[in-house]
Amino acid sequence: MADAGSDMADEGATGPPGPSGCPVTDWSTDFDHTDPQYAARAPEIWDELRSSCPVARSERFGGVWLPTRHADVASIAHDTDHFSSRGVIVSVFEPGPGPVGYAPPITSDPPFHETARRLLLPAFSPKAIRPLEPTTTALCRELLDDLVERAGEGGVADAAIEYAQEIPVRVIAHMLGVPASDGDRFRTFIHRIMETGGQNDAVDPADTLSAYLLDIIEQHRGSVTPRGDLIDFLLDARIDGEALDEDHIVGTVALLLIAGIDTTWSAIGAALWHLAHHPEHRARLLAEPDLLLMAIEEFLRAYAPVTMARKVAREIELGGRTLEPGDWVLLPFPAANRDPRAFDAADEVILDRAKNRHAAFGLGIHRCLGSNLARMELTVAVREWLLRVPDFELADPSAVRWSAGQVRGPRTLPVRLRTITGPSSEEAA
Ligand code: HEM
Repeated sequence: MADAGSDMADEGATGPPGPSGCPVTDWSTDFDHTDPQYAARAPEIWDELRSSCPVARSERFGGVWLPTRHADVASIAHDTDHFSSRGVIVSVFEPGPGPVGYAPPITSDPPFHETARRLLLPAFSPKAIRPLEPTTTALCRELLDDLVERAGEGGVADAAIEYAQEIPVRVIAHMLGVPASDGDRFRTFIHRIMETGGQNDAVDPADTLSAYLLDIIEQHRGSVTPRGDLIDFLLDARIDGEALDEDHIVGTVALLLIAGIDTTWSAIGAALWHLAHHPEHRARLLAEPDLLLMAIEEFLRAYAPVTMARKVAREIELGGRTLEPGDWVLLPFPAANRDPRAFDAADEVILDRAKNRHAAFGLGIHRCLGSNLARMELTVAVREWLLRVPDFELADPSAVRWSAGQVRGPRTLPVRLRTITGPSSEEAA
């Protein structure tokens, strides 16, 4: 068993203040989830808050709340009367009115949410995802070939940059029908949206995710032969016999790019980060490959990457505090997963944890639509890495950098490849 809580604390908390430029001095009255200190030591901060101030308040972003207990996070996620999804990324900007929102279905409230969600369900069902597994396996093997060849046995590779980040970009680009070679552009858009809370938004309107997607959607519209990808699927979709609005299509494609990339990149990176400094867990997974599916659930619990947000729609009491309409509320599913009231030994990574109803994919009506895809990518990525690089370690623990904001995972992860095994994918073919 490994203590994930103290592991996180080891990451160090140095770095410049967050995008607001104003460092946090008191996490119970002035927290800022975009501050690099939060990125580095979030589990420790949640632990402190859970016992001292379970529903914390900060005046940043126009007023934002941070509940850290599982029961509070769950009650908010299930209460769509008092908490609206019209804003899910805390920002200095006010989101538009509901119930559709700018990225359906994640920004939609009932009753429209169900319509927008139902539309996408078939594209993310287990049956639709299964055929993507061989392509994902081949992709992971190719990335490993390149990485192993470049670094060599005993050399150093960046498991976040050279491996984890490439997998979801290429898989979702393939599903949507956008060029995988635009990966760096997607990541720039996503970083702007997810990590800064709109605090440094001097952006050229022609260089936004919406402008990029409008262009791609136009190319799909003008294409003579259908490509059978998700953008075509959305162009053909109907609600009550009507084609979807342009805004709905752009918003949903943007959502799938954003929801599919940083999240899975973070989850793969965090699993590899854990395995890099837990040789006993590497050894166990290599000896008992059937354990991998359970281990992936435990990595998802312990290192859940996604915190969502809500806008308070109607006044409500929570943990003795009064939440006012218009306030932001962060929904830290990762903090819920570390609550000792909900999980035994919550800060330990137990690969074969028997009872593990974690909240990494959310709770309530907005539960992750891409969970089958995410689990497949995560399982394949970790399995293929362990087969090719069974022995590896953090090359420099102080060089690991975790992203700030609402999606948390290692963005720099230098590892030393101590042992390389197996043939390259070309030799194996
Ligand atoms: C490890 C990877 C992932 C994690 C941890 C994750 C987590 C989450 C969470 C916590 C939510 C709930 C949001 C809320 O309550 O407001 C969510 C929703 C969603 N996720 Fe994921 N996600 C992951 C991967 C993906 C992928 C790969 C896709 C698809 C490309 C995806 C698509 C979605 C969509 C469309 C929603 C909105 C569902 C709705 O509003 O009904 N996610 N995800």
